[in-house]
Amino acid sequence: MRNLSLITFLAVASQLTVQSCRNFPGITICVGLTPKSGPHLEVNETSFAVLHGNMSVLQATFFNRLTHLERLYFNTTNVWKIEKGALASLHKLKVLGLTGNKITSIEEGAFSNCSSLETLDLTGNDIEFVSNVNWKGLDNLSNLILRHNFISTISPSDFQHLEQLKLLDLSMNYFEHLNSSSFHVLKNLRILNLAKNLIETIESGTFNGLVNLEELHLESNHLTKTETGFLKETLPKVKQVYLGKNKFTCEGVRSEMNLTYSILC
Ligand SMILES: *[C@@H]1O[C@H](CO)[C@@H](O)[C@H](O)[C@H]1NC(C)=O
Ligand SMILES: *[C@@H]1O[C@H](CO)[C@@H](O)[C@H](O)[C@H]1NC(C)=O
Ligand SMILES: *[C@@H]1O[C@H](CO)[C@@H](O)[C@H](O)[C@H]1NC(C)=O
Ligand SMILES: *[C@@H]1O[C@H](CO)[C@@H](O)[C@H](O)[C@H]1NC(C)=O
Ligand SMILES: *[C@@H]1O[C@H](CO)[C@@H](O)[C@H](O)[C@H]1NC(C)=O
Ligand SMILES: *[C@@H]1O[C@H](CO)[C@@H](O)[C@H](O)[C@H]1NC(C)=O
Ligand SMILES: *[C@@H]1O[C@H](CO)[C@@H](O)[C@H](O)[C@H]1NC(C)=O
Repeated sequence: MRNLSLITFLAVASQLTVQSCRNFPGITICVGLTPKSGPHLEVNETSFAVLHGNMSVLQATFFNRLTHLERLYFNTTNVWKIEKGALASLHKLKVLGLTGNKITSIEEGAFSNCSSLETLDLTGNDIEFVSNVNWKGLDNLSNLILRHNFISTISPSDFQHLEQLKLLDLSMNYFEHLNSSSFHVLKNLRILNLAKNLIETIESGTFNGLVNLEELHLESNHLTKTETGFLKETLPKVKQVYLGKNKFTCEGVRSEMNLTYSILC
């Protein structure tokens, strides 16, 4: 008798899980999804968002049938692992949002067959070392958002396989210092966002190799006037540098340096 009521309860509970998915124009939203729902999921829209719940591991088979997806979001669902090949059947995927999860590392193979991906949003995860993320497979990635993680160091090899990047957002991290040539593989980068860190020192040559950079964000850091020497270095295509909320006044810097671009404070 007890078993029967348990079975009934489970049947109802699993229906509830299914019922918590709703189709809105253009997007299917599921609340409280579990990995078990994966193979049976019916997602007709091209965007799919999972909110909350416990999807801690993105399993290799979960998305096999959802080959039409173009945008996929996991918002605060405890994701910490993406299994090898988990996204490999999503040949049309352009946007992957993994905001507010528990990711510290991503293993090789997680992004295999993801050359259609244009935007990867990892805002609000637990990434400390970018070198623990294997970007292999993201040959066409344009926008990488690493906002609000725990990153304080960077090395040029951290961005291997990301030569196509146009936007790199490292705002709201823990940088205090920037090393020479940190970003030099990113020859196509247009926008670099380093706002809201703790940056005090910028080594000469930090922005070496960023030959296509147009916009540099360094607002809300701890820079003093003596650390603005990088502005005199060659940044051939830069149009705007954002320097507000640091420890100097922009008027002084503007009048002393003969710059070909605007400083915005
Ligand atoms: C998805 O589409 C199929 C047919 O294309 C339809 O039978 C099914 O009811 C749709 N599901 C939802 C949840 O809209
Ligand atoms: C989330 O799922 C994992 C296994 O997929 C499990 O180990 C963990 O206990 C679950 N957490 C919660 C809060 O249910
Ligand atoms: C990648 O996609 C190709 C087809 O485009 C397929 O043959 C191959 O099995 C896929 N790789 C993985 C790891 O799923
Ligand atoms: C989920 O996160 C994305 C950012 O990755 C955000 O644009 C979107 O609004 C969020 N969706 C919901 C329904 O909260
Ligand atoms: C790469 O991105 C461009 C647009 O940025 C797109 O036109 C092209 O089809 C993408 N390539 C692949 C393999 O998806
Ligand atoms: C600068 O380079 C040194 C030596 O390679 C390294 O230990 C340090 O973590 C780097 N700092 C940053 C902020 O990347
Ligand atoms: C500023 O730079 C321009 C072009 O590089 C140059 O023609 C001009 O003489 C410079 N002015 C000063 C005050 O250095």
